[in-house]
Amino acid sequence: MSAQNRAAQNRAAQNRAAENAGAENAGAALIALEGVEKHFGSFKALRGVDLDVARGEVVVVIGPSGSGKSTLIRCINGLEAHDAGTITVDGIRIKDTRDLAEVRREVGMVFQQFNLFPEMTVLRNVTLAPMRVRGASRKMAIDIARRLLDRVGILEQAHKYPEELSGGQQQRVAIARALAMEPKVMLFDEPTSALDPEMINEVLDVMKDLAAQGMTMIVVTHEMGFAREVADRVLFMDGGRVVETGTPEHFFQNPTEDRTKLFLSKILRH
Ligand SMILES: Nc1ncnc2c1ncn2[C@@H]1O[C@H](COP(=O)(O)OP(=O)(O)OP(=O)(O)O)[C@@H](O)[C@H]1O
Ligand SMILES: [Mg+2]
Repeated sequence: MSAQNRAAQNRAAQNRAAENAGAENAGAALIALEGVEKHFGSFKALRGVDLDVARGEVVVVIGPSGSGKSTLIRCINGLEAHDAGTITVDGIRIKDTRDLAEVRREVGMVFQQFNLFPEMTVLRNVTLAPMRVRGASRKMAIDIARRLLDRVGILEQAHKYPEELSGGQQQRVAIARALAMEPKVMLFDEPTSALDPEMINEVLDVMKDLAAQGMTMIVVTHEMGFAREVADRVLFMDGGRVVETGTPEHFFQNPTEDRTKLFLSKILRH
């Protein structure tokens, strides 16, 4: 079975489970953006973005530099405050600071530059937030961390420091660290752009695995192979707007908008 079929099957199973459990928001969008704007002074980095992401859905965001991709996902976990419109994550409106702490617990984020704590071991990087924020016991946090480090294939590195690891290994620690909070959503901002080519796949494989297990994900990436294989939906941004959105098949075979065609012709050439 292909990863995609497996992902679809898992998602269907997950949706059924949610429905059977009578879960409050089953079927509703897990992430909902309406008319979201972000201004930096007089410059509008986001100009009215609407986006619904369903539970278990994987959305890949592409677009030229400066189109607002990072700003979009930074607004979704409240790293940037939006200036207009609404953002809701699992029913929580991202607005006041109390909600923000709540949302950050539900939304895992992985950056281009891993952002690990350099003075802490891998294990400590992964156990810190569950202990501080979730109130997990040390033993429980270590159990969770070891399971996650095993899942991303680097359990044997648990006692090393970040600088002793390759970029690909560091990024896998960053993913494990985000997962340790048991987030409902994972946001990735160009997670493989800072990696040497031979390390890109080891990180993409971990992300594919996450998708196949039903994680809801928004991924900014230039890895079009990943988009084709894993995305349920691709979203093309330009100038702070969503210009076009559709299935990977639609995007790579039959894009509608001229700006999308131009962008794809540039990135698919190499
Ligand atoms: N803190 C800031 N202050 C002022 N302008 C900003 C700030 N952050 C982003 N911008 C501007 O907002 C626009 C969108 O930036 P953003 O980082 O979201 O683009 P991007 O699509 O992620 O680009 P890239 O592909 O280069 O990462 C850019 O024009 C950028 O210069
Ligand atoms: Mg960016």
